Amino acid sequence: MPTTTLTADTIAAYRRDGFVHIPGIITPAEAARFRAAALACSGRVRNNTAGSAGAKVFQQLVNAWREDATMRALTLHPNVGAVAEQLAGVPLRLWHDQILIKDPHNQKATEFHQDQSYWPHRDSTHPLSAWIALGDVPVERGCMTFIPGSHRHTELASLDLMDGQGLFRACPELTWEPRVTIPLRAGDCTFHHGRCAHMATPNGTDEPRVAHVVIFMDATTRYQKRRDGQPHPVIDPLGLTEGALLEGDMFPRVGTR
Ligand code: SIN
Ligand code: NI
Repeated sequence: MPTTTLTADTIAAYRRDGFVHIPGIITPAEAARFRAAALACSGRVRNNTAGSAGAKVFQQLVNAWREDATMRALTLHPNVGAVAEQLAGVPLRLWHDQILIKDPHNQKATEFHQDQSYWPHRDSTHPLSAWIALGDVPVERGCMTFIPGSHRHTELASLDLMDGQGLFRACPELTWEPRVTIPLRAGDCTFHHGRCAHMATPNGTDEPRVAHVVIFMDATTRYQKRRDGQPHPVIDPLGLTEGALLEGDMFPRVGTR
């Protein structure tokens, strides 16, 4: 059975470490169906919102759920929202999703960063991402590595995904922290806090690494320009004024709270 009800130990581990491994958030059969849909989407559109550096480390398709009914079923999958809500412990909304494909023999790691610095948000203190493996992801195919406890470091700048030293220049003490690398089977997932430092290994295999990432924010989150002034492809077309609550069809509530 897919995991939907978490133990107190799992929730405590997430809050202590800033990430957690949730096996079987969807079944292997579901993973195979969503993988085919993700690959079909990536053939249609390539939306490399992480800029030219991001484009080299993965193909990124943001808000697939707005374009494809099958991907929508994954992004709004009740198991994913239910687990996110239990981990965060506060009411959540969907921020956006993204299909992230690392092509076969793409030897570039996605280097260490925190996600929240890329987001034009304020009043979101419990943001988190579900990174769902749509196919087996051994270490050699580009799985995630986390630095436990690093979500307690706030105010770090947005970093270049191709700069392997950026995080450690910004926060030298993290250099000496242990790292945890989590290979995933198809249908498994990791959740990570928006400030938990993480990277993904290169893909040295013959198969594409297909991951679907569903990102949640506190239901109270308001629009605030990025600190580095960079645009954001989800927010910019909406013409919001600073301080506007991120609500409505683009940012649906998830979970049961
Ligand atoms: C990746 O999948 O390559 C990176 C995902 C992330 O940074 O959240
Ligand atoms: Ni990230």
